[in-house]
Amino acid sequence: MISFILNKKEVSTTLPPGMALLDFIRYKQHLTGTKIGCREGDCGACTVLVGELVAGELVYKSATCCLMALGNAQSKHIVTIEGLNMDGLNPIQQALSDESATQCGFCTPGFVVSLAGYCLGNKEPTYANAIAAIDGNICRCTGYKSIEKAAAKVVDLLDERKGGEPVLYATITKILPAYFNKIKERLVKISKPVMAIKGSNGTSIKSLGGGTDLYVQKHEEMVDAHINFLNNNAALKGVTLEGNKCMIGGGATVSDLLDCTFFHEYFPGINKFIKLVSSTPIRNMATIAGNFINASPIGDLTIFFLALDAQLILKYQKKSRQVALRDLYKGYKQLDKKPGEIVEKIWFELPGPNAKFNFEKVSKRTHLDIASVNSAISLVMENGIIQTAALSAGGVGPIPLYLKKTSLFLAGKAVDETLIEAAITIAHTEINPISDARGSAAYKKLLLGQLLKAHFITLFPALKVEKLLTF
Ligand code: FES
Ligand code: FES
Repeated sequence: MISFILNKKEVSTTLPPGMALLDFIRYKQHLTGTKIGCREGDCGACTVLVGELVAGELVYKSATCCLMALGNAQSKHIVTIEGLNMDGLNPIQQALSDESATQCGFCTPGFVVSLAGYCLGNKEPTYANAIAAIDGNICRCTGYKSIEKAAAKVVDLLDERKGGEPVLYATITKILPAYFNKIKERLVKISKPVMAIKGSNGTSIKSLGGGTDLYVQKHEEMVDAHINFLNNNAALKGVTLEGNKCMIGGGATVSDLLDCTFFHEYFPGINKFIKLVSSTPIRNMATIAGNFINASPIGDLTIFFLALDAQLILKYQKKSRQVALRDLYKGYKQLDKKPGEIVEKIWFELPGPNAKFNFEKVSKRTHLDIASVNSAISLVMENGIIQTAALSAGGVGPIPLYLKKTSLFLAGKAVDETLIEAAITIAHTEINPISDARGSAAYKKLLLGQLLKAHFITLFPALKVEKLLTF
């Protein structure tokens, strides 16, 4: 039995927990304001808010419910566009209307829900943050200028907010309906995790995190699967600091990483890197471990963490073992992972004061697209000499690659243009790209060289760019 609060009312259902929340909302609850566009997490037409108690606080995040299992709604507050309606238009809807930011209206519920999530979040009420909140919503007909103007009006609604609980402010100022005030205490009453549920297809046990990849490919198959719901396991959550180690729970999401203050101290460029990776609702759902286990040769976070020499703790029942991320991949989509094992934790040593790190990605669109080629580099410097180097690359072989020869070659050398040219030559011997929809093999080979140059130009601004353009 899955129980949660859907808008104002508590619902309990024995329907298959693997069915997409989108289908439950539209076809079982008949809340048709939530639209179906792509069913791949790309368009935002199905955006809902997911309210969850985290350390006693009610936290709302946006999610694309086409990729969310019904079981992942357990003990949460799910908000659809209907749950934001007030007597007339709410101020967010009014802002979109005033700015003529809606035409056919198909995308509009998604925009309203995302902006409501912005009002319920505790990020600074800035225009940049409001725009970031709608980065997963696509409109095919209005044009984004009017939507941006409406978003600016929503920022103004939060003008007087000076700390305090965002939910309280949003209800007192009548941005959102008053029933939100009681949700926290109602959630405490129904709070109960759901870990594993048998579906009718009891032989296939699937471990499910955020579902952002599984539900793109297999949402019908998931309906009757026997699912191990990792998302509901509090022991798998969180990003913490232990000595000089960063510990990331197997269920931690990409947003958890972005919300982690100490991570920003060690990786000041993290916002820029992650914005290349995915939209806000996907980051709110997708787990870092899921990106590793997906085993895509171009998994952005896999490439990021390969350069950091991340270690995985894999667990099955009471047995745990450690595997280096660099040793996890045995062939295309083949892992050193036994059936039933889950990623309990990911850890890596945080970079010291002499460390430099960079991530680069080229895709057909600048943002929110699958990489053609991506790469990360981690260097430790002393007196202008590279002490250790770790270079990774995706999209240039059947698995995400740690470029060991190139990394070893770089160690012990001073950085100049000649070194980079030689490093590119060695890197080319370590890759085996194929031609596909994201580019020809020759193009990807060229891209890797360009990304290597980009790493060094970013990390060593004194390098002569003109010289790098000659090879
Ligand atoms: Fe497009 Fe869900 S239907 S993101
Ligand atoms: Fe038509 Fe946005 S108003 S898709």
